[in-house]
Amino acid sequence: MKIQPYRPGKPIEEVEREIGVRNCIKLASNENPLGPSPKAVEAVQRKVLDVHRYPDGTGFYLRQKLSEIHGISMESIILGSGTTELIEMVARALLTPRDGCVLSEQSFLMYELAVQAVGARIVRVPLRQYRFDLEAILRALTEETRLVYIANPNNPTGTMVSRQEMDRFLDRVPSHVVVVLDEAYHDYIRRDDYPDGLGYVRQGKNVLVLRTFSKVYGLAGLRIGYGMSQPALIQLLNKVRSPFNANALGQAAALGALGDLEHVARSYDRNQEGMRFLTRGLDQLRVSYVPSVANFLLIDAGLDSQWTFRELLKRRVLVRPMKEYHFPTALRVTVGTGEENQVFLEALEDVLRNRAA
Ligand SMILES: Cc1ncc(COP(=O)(O)O)c(C=O)c1O
Repeated sequence: MKIQPYRPGKPIEEVEREIGVRNCIKLASNENPLGPSPKAVEAVQRKVLDVHRYPDGTGFYLRQKLSEIHGISMESIILGSGTTELIEMVARALLTPRDGCVLSEQSFLMYELAVQAVGARIVRVPLRQYRFDLEAILRALTEETRLVYIANPNNPTGTMVSRQEMDRFLDRVPSHVVVVLDEAYHDYIRRDDYPDGLGYVRQGKNVLVLRTFSKVYGLAGLRIGYGMSQPALIQLLNKVRSPFNANALGQAAALGALGDLEHVARSYDRNQEGMRFLTRGLDQLRVSYVPSVANFLLIDAGLDSQWTFRELLKRRVLVRPMKEYHFPTALRVTVGTGEENQVFLEALEDVLRNRAA
């Protein structure tokens, strides 16, 4: 009874229907504004003729490809219907009502929902200056703790934990705790101090690294993601995995997308450009924001976020108000195409000007 269902960013069609406008731009769900790779689209078109068949429940070919790319065994990889499903699966596999889980406040809400659904105990640790406070998380671990979720970078703040911090943290986490490293925005970061979770899997650490095809690969609608860990944990997850969880079109599209690294590189470059453009514009408008390494920005115009959200919507721009993440005056804005970013900044300027008037 206490569980509040997850409220995703609304689909654009629904918003347009509700407010009776057309041609909205959606900067609300951290999707890739360039769309999917043409190679992924072709793969889906080929596969669609076979959708009367059940998918390969083990995702053999996609896991084989991922195993080649990442240099780990296929037994170290599991597919999910988006990483959201893996976030739930690991809670179901590891937690009972007697066990504990440590979460950060103001992080991806699905962690909390997944743990609530299995009735385990939740300890919430506040962020520190918008970043995961790994020292405080270590202090919160007890004999009962089985699971810790860390989003790196974090959604909605866009901040990251450095390699040095993560190394020290994982060295001190006791062996009865599994650390989920959610790297949904991994491909938007090319920095030496970003801790690539795969390295920890290779070292044999007790981590589950999550990656998704929903962000830089532009396949959010097809629901496909994967987890990487020690084979023993992957085996446990497979016990609670629903058969055929990763759908056939998602698997085919992911394989197509992995064959188009140019699309990933282009998406990365455009995101960097868009981020520079947006932050410059926000500086000019004197709107504060948290510096982000991902494809979105947490901005704070100092006004009630629900109000600003509605005002932007009247100007056909859909962003995400952050009240439910306990940032009552903040909005999360996805980096869009050059044109979308421009429209957003103009709309925000108009909202602020009218508010002042
Ligand atoms: C940190 C984080 N993890 C996981 C997800 C879920 O992604 P998927 O589409 O793979 O379920 C998101 C989506 O916004 C996210 O921000």
